[in-house]
Amino acid sequence: MIDLRTIRARLAQVGQDHVLRFYDSLTPAGQQNLLTQIASLDLESLPGLVETYVRNKPRAEVPTDLRPATYYPNNPDAASRPWDRSAAYRRGEDLIRRGKVGAFVVAGGQGSRLGFDGPKGCFPAGAVTGKPLFQVFAENLLGAKDRYSVRVPWYIMTSPLNHDPTVAFFRDHDYFGLSREDTMFFPQGVMPSFDIATGKVPLASKGEVATNPDGHGGCIRALHVSGSLADMQRRGIEHLSYFQVDNPVVRVLDPVFLGLHAGAPDSSAEMSSKMVPKAGPDEKVGVFCLAGGKLEVLEYSDLPPDLAKARNPDGSLTYNAGSIAIHIMGVEFLQRLATDPRFALPFHRAEKKVPCIDPESGEPITPAGNNGVKLEKFVFDALALARASIVYETDRVEEFAPIKNATGVDSVQTSKQLQTLRAARWLESRGVSVPRTPGGDPDCTLEVSPRTATSAAELPVAGLPKAVERGARLAL
Ligand code: UTP
Repeated sequence: MIDLRTIRARLAQVGQDHVLRFYDSLTPAGQQNLLTQIASLDLESLPGLVETYVRNKPRAEVPTDLRPATYYPNNPDAASRPWDRSAAYRRGEDLIRRGKVGAFVVAGGQGSRLGFDGPKGCFPAGAVTGKPLFQVFAENLLGAKDRYSVRVPWYIMTSPLNHDPTVAFFRDHDYFGLSREDTMFFPQGVMPSFDIATGKVPLASKGEVATNPDGHGGCIRALHVSGSLADMQRRGIEHLSYFQVDNPVVRVLDPVFLGLHAGAPDSSAEMSSKMVPKAGPDEKVGVFCLAGGKLEVLEYSDLPPDLAKARNPDGSLTYNAGSIAIHIMGVEFLQRLATDPRFALPFHRAEKKVPCIDPESGEPITPAGNNGVKLEKFVFDALALARASIVYETDRVEEFAPIKNATGVDSVQTSKQLQTLRAARWLESRGVSVPRTPGGDPDCTLEVSPRTATSAAELPVAGLPKAVERGARLAL
């Protein structure tokens, strides 16, 4: 039993006792739930957080020694930095085959921009089949089973807000053909949300404080607390392939990337990243930089415009290495961070709409504009904690077709176009004729399951048509 008086006194001390305003109107069970939720929050940290992040907007200082990050170019023969792609490939394949690699999707976000009713991983993403994102990722792992005879364990981070529907979705779809024992779900932590004007924590309902998932950076602690790291160690997993739930073309098990991460001379095998060249100076992606000798991602809003626009003598952007949120993390590294009592990633502040109730009347409020501040941690802030960290360039069409918005940029429509474009390239590289519009876009809709192939080279020639018909919808 959690004691009301103690909680009330602690809340009063941090200026948040309004959250008990409707306590007396709740059922006994509702009262206990509310007290349990409040007791799980770090109440004593709230005044400091309100002062730092709600009343003020901390500006990220741009380090004085900021430099663009170096990276392994997609073309291994590039004069700037030649490297041995086939050696990396072999090393990566060997790790996959020997069962040293796990898959990890962060799926705890709220997906508010997409506005989909349900966990984002259930969103129908396949260009032709409309198959859900979770199924696309599962097919990557089924493909690995076919190709390497290995069962790759899959860790799925949810949040308390979408955990149950996520688990139910997998159960209802029979784990998409994966084995249930190799599919692990765990919720990340939450942070209280804040009223943007007052710094008070809003009530989501009379018996619940408004909270938000604590950001994808919350995964490091959640992997530990949930027992997932221990599970990996039991299974002999050494490297974790990290990806986001909204990118259907991610190559979950990329031998070259794994091989570089585990074996490149300048990698510590602690945390590695993929990048794509920025589409232009204004593209809203974080950029890999070096500061104080460490790799970091500078958010697009923190990169000063003159640096964002700066160009090299060959015309390319100086700060060119856009982050696409694909990483490999060493299990030992994660264990070291998660068990270090001093480990903490910084918070980032975001102004968002927070649905809540009126603190006086208890009536629901649907905010028209941003009424709240959410605090989140970002996983890329762990890069600076690695002893050394490498970046590997990949091709945007091959690996980055995120579904963030309902329409426009990074929407389901652009993602389906990119899925088609990638499949068209793969088919053409296998001698299949693909109809194109006068503008050069494929004049058809194509989708290749990652079980069939995760690269052009893996696409089996047998069974491919000689030509795709104009306007056709073809799923392979
Ligand atoms: P986004 O930054 O796109 O955030 O997450 P979001 O919450 O999903 O979407 P919006 O901003 O509300 O529209 C990038 C990835 O990080 C995961 C998301 O699920 C997605 O895979 N994520 C984000 C978490 O797992 N937990 C979080 O707390 C935040």
